[in-house]
Amino acid sequence: MNQQPILEVKDLRTSFYTERGKVTALHGINFQLREGEILGIVGESGCGKSVTSQSILRLYDEKYTAEYEGEINFQGENLLKLPMDQMQEIRGNDISMIFQDPLSSLNPVYTIGFQISESLILHQKLSKKEANEKVIELLRLTGISAPEKRVNQYPHELSGGMRQRVMIAMALACKPRVLIADEPTTALDVTIQAQILDLLLQLKDEYNMSVMFITHDLGVVAEICTRVVVMYLGQIVEEADVQSLFSKPLHPYTKGLMKSMPAIDGERSEKLFVIEGAVPSLNNIPKGCRFAPRCPYADELCMEKPPELTVHNDNQKVRCWHYDKIMREEENQNDNTIKAK
Ligand SMILES: Nc1ncnc2c1ncn2[C@@H]1O[C@H](COP(=O)(O)OP(=O)(O)OP(=O)(O)O)[C@@H](O)[C@H]1O
Ligand SMILES: [Mg+2]
Repeated sequence: MNQQPILEVKDLRTSFYTERGKVTALHGINFQLREGEILGIVGESGCGKSVTSQSILRLYDEKYTAEYEGEINFQGENLLKLPMDQMQEIRGNDISMIFQDPLSSLNPVYTIGFQISESLILHQKLSKKEANEKVIELLRLTGISAPEKRVNQYPHELSGGMRQRVMIAMALACKPRVLIADEPTTALDVTIQAQILDLLLQLKDEYNMSVMFITHDLGVVAEICTRVVVMYLGQIVEEADVQSLFSKPLHPYTKGLMKSMPAIDGERSEKLFVIEGAVPSLNNIPKGCRFAPRCPYADELCMEKPPELTVHNDNQKVRCWHYDKIMREEENQNDNTIKAK
């Protein structure tokens, strides 16, 4: 795989203007999306996954809602510095997005044919007739039955799975280089979820896209992603390739997320692990390590001083004062268990 980044997020800080003043939701996010990869972004609710994806496309209004700082580099340009008309050109054309809930993203008063063809007419300057033919082709590609009939239907006439396929067709209409999928399968039942994931994998290769896949489901990450970024309270706490992350998670938060995953084979009989407590509010960010109040390993240093993101073994990054010590302790324990056997 090509290791070149197609998208680079550098020290991204997104803050919202709220009634209680400016509140910062992202505190210096750094990562790269490499050509052709599927990068997973995981973390509990409220960690900043959606704010990260929406910031890349600058979807928050910059006058009344939010302020962006840092850089989002795409094809040699910092998107945060582009005039809005150029940003509009990028959206849907070069970088597309699929949202969690297709019903609230589709307009109920227009046919799906009209909604998919909009971007084809706008970005690719196709005529209405050409756009209609292309829409049917796109719908067929997403596996929807009777696409000629579907173009004239309204969103409420389709099932949840079909609506998500329509969203995918819409996102892919202009052959984007980058697809951002924000929990695209969370609202679907397990069978349909598997079908949509297969479809995304197939289309990623066919369209030669790089994908940012946002989810809170580590099972999905294991299945489809190449690398993973773990977020906690507006920061990245761990980054690794999927194999390293699943074989050797370094951050206590990642370990907690792993332990709270249901076993795929259904064999794990004990009660599911729960990470104690909740993600703190953005108005009440812990002084030291942000995860310290919930971390079983936290000591005074963790409570007082925020750790930096450090590199481990060249390909893994972790934001924890004690990951090394914890890792050695766990290795010793494993050795002792093996010897005892
Ligand atoms: N428009 C907004 N104004 C103020 N705060 C916001 C706004 N949008 C998001 N936030 C805050 O930013 C933080 C991150 O939210 P975000 O939606 O990115 O979470 P998430 O990781 O996507 O969670 P989920 O898994 O529930 O989708 C939250 O504390 C949220 O309340
Ligand atoms: Mg979200």
